[in-house]
Amino acid sequence: MSLLNLHLKVWRQNQGKPGHFQDIEAHEIPDHASFLEMLDIVNERLIAKGEEPVAFDHDCREGICGSCSMTINGMPHGPEKATTTCQLHMRKFRTEDTIWIEPFRAHAFPVIKDLIVDRTPFDRIQQAGGYISVRTGAAPDANSILIGKEVADAAMDAAECIGCGACVAACKNASAMLFVSAKAGQLNSLPQGQPEKNRRTLAMVRQMDKEGFGACTNQYECEAACPKEISVRWITKLNRDYALAATKEAFGGSIERAGGGD
Ligand code: SF4
Ligand code: FES
Repeated sequence: MSLLNLHLKVWRQNQGKPGHFQDIEAHEIPDHASFLEMLDIVNERLIAKGEEPVAFDHDCREGICGSCSMTINGMPHGPEKATTTCQLHMRKFRTEDTIWIEPFRAHAFPVIKDLIVDRTPFDRIQQAGGYISVRTGAAPDANSILIGKEVADAAMDAAECIGCGACVAACKNASAMLFVSAKAGQLNSLPQGQPEKNRRTLAMVRQMDKEGFGACTNQYECEAACPKEISVRWITKLNRDYALAATKEAFGGSIERAGGGD
């Protein structure tokens, strides 16, 4: 094990007030520590000095919950491809490195404190239609509906989205299309998701627009930043599903009827 001496520039901000970068010297950080463990060490030292610890979001620390959202050296989740911040290790840095640590920046994700942003817009998009409203039964019931392997594999790929928001932070338009396309696409691909497909697609896209996310202009930065490597092909599918649903709605399809099927 070796120890690293690092120069941190950490974004400090309280809700509604202007923020600033604070210089923090992080000495003797074990290179086997994760990025969040490094912040834990920094915070313990700040607390010991009677200073305010750096606020950051975290939960599972194993790459599955999507909480550890922060931008490291300009890249959401840092420089390691397909890796969440909690799975990033300090051995990826060198001693005397300067590391810039910022929150995910997007109009629709206001800063709550320091590195924590409000990502509840994602919850509201999910609540708008990212579910199947009938009881789908237990595992034996699900297994009674045969699904082709290619379709099942693709749906599984989309289901890997952990809702972290890196795609939004990486996009110059702060578009949420990769997230929405993964969440809608997963359900829209499977037989159990078909009856509500059109309603789901319209509702989720419209909620996304309402939340103030920008439009997608095919920059592909979202795919590059995504820790789960969600493909932009899901955006293509969402655009197709949306066009079909909107056309059906415009021509008086049954999707407008409350409680009705497609
Ligand atoms: S699509 Fe990728 S980057 Fe976007 S929220 Fe899902 S996991 Fe995070
Ligand atoms: S803390 Fe859960 S994905 Fe990083």
